[in-house]
Amino acid sequence: MAAIGRFGTRVVPEMGSIIGDCRERGQLVEGPDIEAFEREFAEFLGSGHVRTCSTEYGRMAFYFILQALNFPAGAEIIVPALTFWVIPEIARVAGLTPVFADVDPVTFTLDPAAVERAITPRTRAVLPTHLYGLSCDMDPILDLARRHGLKVIEDCAHALGATYKGRMVGTLGDASLFSFQAFKPLNTYGGGLAWVRDADVARRVAQQADGEPWPDVRRVEHILWSGKWQHTFIRPKVFTWSLFPIWYAASWVGAKPEARLWERVRPLEPLPAQYRGRFTNVQAAIGRAGLRRLPEFIDRTRRHARMLDDILGAVPGISVPHAPADRTHVYYQYCAYVPDSETVVKRCIRRGIDVAPMHVDVCTRLPLFGWRGAPAPGADRAATAVQVPVYESLSDREIERAGRLVLEQVARLAGEAHGARARAH
Ligand SMILES: Cc1ncc(COP(=O)(O)O)c(C=O)c1O
Repeated sequence: MAAIGRFGTRVVPEMGSIIGDCRERGQLVEGPDIEAFEREFAEFLGSGHVRTCSTEYGRMAFYFILQALNFPAGAEIIVPALTFWVIPEIARVAGLTPVFADVDPVTFTLDPAAVERAITPRTRAVLPTHLYGLSCDMDPILDLARRHGLKVIEDCAHALGATYKGRMVGTLGDASLFSFQAFKPLNTYGGGLAWVRDADVARRVAQQADGEPWPDVRRVEHILWSGKWQHTFIRPKVFTWSLFPIWYAASWVGAKPEARLWERVRPLEPLPAQYRGRFTNVQAAIGRAGLRRLPEFIDRTRRHARMLDDILGAVPGISVPHAPADRTHVYYQYCAYVPDSETVVKRCIRRGIDVAPMHVDVCTRLPLFGWRGAPAPGADRAATAVQVPVYESLSDREIERAGRLVLEQVARLAGEAHGARARAH
């Protein structure tokens, strides 16, 4: 039986012909799809101004937004304690001080009460991150921002298509960033996009994004090649004989090879050379196709999440992801709490399902940021959750297999605990 990896990539069936057409027309780098993609993305969100940013990284959209908002020296930005370390580090590189506020361990999103506690006279902005595909509770955050004169920048890297009280995330604050990296809801093999409410700020973001150099054709071809390679590598049949044996061996020796998958935590000043470069025409053409298929991708992922809920939801000791009634979840990750998560992860991997420990960071624990914020017990708790594969390219049978395996391992642990108690008496 094939092993199942933790990440899937959303690859539109017409990917090959889109790339071939752009190549043939000599429009891999520059071309008309960029403007068309921006227009269609703005229509999808329903308001505001959008600009594609960067050949490889959505984080550059955040950087350009911060530059365009022109904060005074010493300004603070409130960032969730649980997020990808790069984001507060980009804020630091842009001249702001990131101050961490805790998350609600049930929804994994920024806790409005913690935001309120983190506000100081120097606070100028707050960054609600719609982690794992679920919107933050935005109304209290927007209300705090109004009362304290703060800009609200939404991090939508995981959450394209999610809604809060019927409105699209990414259009609720002053600006937002989206990532199009290969595992994200819209995959263009890298790059990102900024959404901005105010026309003047949008113009300044556009100036910066357009001021970046065009990548040359060789760089674009390399990105397309490595995207294809990555996609092939994580297909269950290939994953079984590529990464999986490493994961399997690591589960016996206690190694953490996944740490090598992610960027090493380090200061990002000056910004690395590969962060520079404009978003290209071939990425925009792929993005247009991905946007058309997005509702279908989201539906399938949601259906998988429902299947996992049905299998795991009523089991004592397991908490499945909770989406409050006023929000729709897009399940970039399906994060659940299970007892003794380390053992469950190990045992699932040994049986062919790459159930993974959480992969974003508890930033309050990172030496890179020193100690900037109150303790974050919510983020500490959230860090013990596990990710069960949920992505749309899996079949229903594979989802069922993943859910049942987690269930069996939790039941086995309960049986072992029961046995140990009986022996102790
Ligand atoms: C929460 C969050 N925000 C922002 C980003 C940045 O995206 P990119 O890698 O495209 O810069 C990521 C990337 O994984 C992320 O997880």
